Amino acid sequence: MNKDKGTFHIDGRIQEILQEQMMPDPEEMGTPPGGKSGEPTVEDIRFDITPEELIDYLSDYIVGQDKAMEIVATKICTHFHRMRLERENPELPRIVGNVKSNMLLIGPTGVGKTYLIRLIASKLRVPFVKGDATKFSETGYVGGDVEDLVRELVYQVDGNIKLAEYGIIYIDEIDKIASSGNWNGPDVSRSGVQRNLLKLMEETEVDMKVPHDLASQMEAVIETQRTGKAARKKVNTRNILFVMSGAFQGLPDIISRRLKRGGMGFTGVAITSVEDVENLLEKQHTQDLMDYGFESEFIGRIPVVTHLRTLDEDGLFRILKSPNSAVIQGKRRDFAAYGVDLTFDDDTLRLIAKEAHKIATGARGLVSVVEKYLLPFERSLPSTNVKKLHVTLDLLENPDAFLKELIRKHAFESFTDRFFKTTGIKLEFSTGAVKAAIDLAAERGVTLRNFLDDALKDYEYGLKLVGKSKFIITRSVLSDPKAYLDKLVKQSYKGKAEK
Ligand SMILES: Nc1ncnc2c1ncn2[C@@H]1O[C@H](COP(=O)(O)OP(=O)(O)OP(=O)(O)O)[C@@H](O)[C@H]1O
Ligand SMILES: [Mg+2]
Repeated sequence: MNKDKGTFHIDGRIQEILQEQMMPDPEEMGTPPGGKSGEPTVEDIRFDITPEELIDYLSDYIVGQDKAMEIVATKICTHFHRMRLERENPELPRIVGNVKSNMLLIGPTGVGKTYLIRLIASKLRVPFVKGDATKFSETGYVGGDVEDLVRELVYQVDGNIKLAEYGIIYIDEIDKIASSGNWNGPDVSRSGVQRNLLKLMEETEVDMKVPHDLASQMEAVIETQRTGKAARKKVNTRNILFVMSGAFQGLPDIISRRLKRGGMGFTGVAITSVEDVENLLEKQHTQDLMDYGFESEFIGRIPVVTHLRTLDEDGLFRILKSPNSAVIQGKRRDFAAYGVDLTFDDDTLRLIAKEAHKIATGARGLVSVVEKYLLPFERSLPSTNVKKLHVTLDLLENPDAFLKELIRKHAFESFTDRFFKTTGIKLEFSTGAVKAAIDLAAERGVTLRNFLDDALKDYEYGLKLVGKSKFIITRSVLSDPKAYLDKLVKQSYKGKAEK
């Protein structure tokens, strides 16, 4: 490790935190780990994983989405087993009109839609890219082109097209490309984007060279000159899995209306609670998505539709408690980076879950609540030498006051500790002295620690001289430390002389 002055020493406890099992960073995940050579290859893909194995793995990370997790994990496993079968038996005839297991995940923000698919991609060691349906336009000139997602998969694995052809493409906010029925304005372009996606979802060849991108054209020329042959620059999308997601606001109403029309005793209810929404989504049907504004061909290419549930308070609490939770473990790591061991009382996690539930942004709310409380500490502790922070209800009640008190207490404690180490003398501060020290430090505009160091600089030597093993710092010591020590030394000599 770098021993330069200024780099702090990572002690054993902090080392432990850094090694605690933690999920791969959600924003970083997706690039498959490399084989022995470092570069990932098709041979690294886990084509053979079973649904049970995958579900087992996911349950260590995902809270409260059992049903969606089972469906998604099973269908993705089958997709990869099927590809394995076809790879191993190239003589198998192709099934005409085959539809692969593209999926649609419906659910509100922060409930684990992206997380679920990222985890699966990283477990299977296949490349993953995430795009946003609102970024695409029909022509691909304004904003992005849906084909960019396929090219992005290739870049992810450093140009390994074969590997990219087994990747997963995740497209968020797919509900935003539903047309609302009035055939003018943005709707035309929305259904245009749907049609462009259709081709990709089925099978098409995507050219790595972007027609209007000079750089990629140049690159191709250079590559051809270097290798003497034109590199293969087309990506086939036949095996690429597409996962779409969106919140689909208004879909429950559509379902409710259909059920009402269908009779069967369903009279339609006002949708007032999260349960109402979920019960309705449970009954979702292909027709509802078409009514929502998707073309039937588009829906036809997405055979797997499932919804993820809103997380309740307890679910949020369990996410915080999970040893794999990025929220808490991530924060612990942030603090560990400054050499601070961060821990939480269970009570505080419950309160954080409760507050996050009110924000109604799923697990995303947890991050903002935790940030709100810990930011003052993250800001100030790195310039103190506080090495431990235990989060209690007191802290949550008034973070600023708690922080002040912590820094205060720590300044006194670390001062007396160091004093004891160098002199063997046990120091104590009277309540009056604590107050006086704080006031005097503030008056002089110095930190408490600097004030104590300066005021008591002669006491290490002086107290040793008078032969004390214990000494109480009082208010009068601090009001004129030098005079007090002089008096002490004189008295001590007088005492000795009289003996
Ligand atoms: N069910 C869950 N179990 C455990 N952690 C979760 C769960 N849901 C969300 N998280 C945490 O919250 C983060 C954000 O979740 P995610 O990106 O999956 O949200 P989302 O459902 O895709 O929502 P959005 O529509 O806002 O993208 C995840 O990286 C994960 O750390
Ligand atoms: Mg997401």
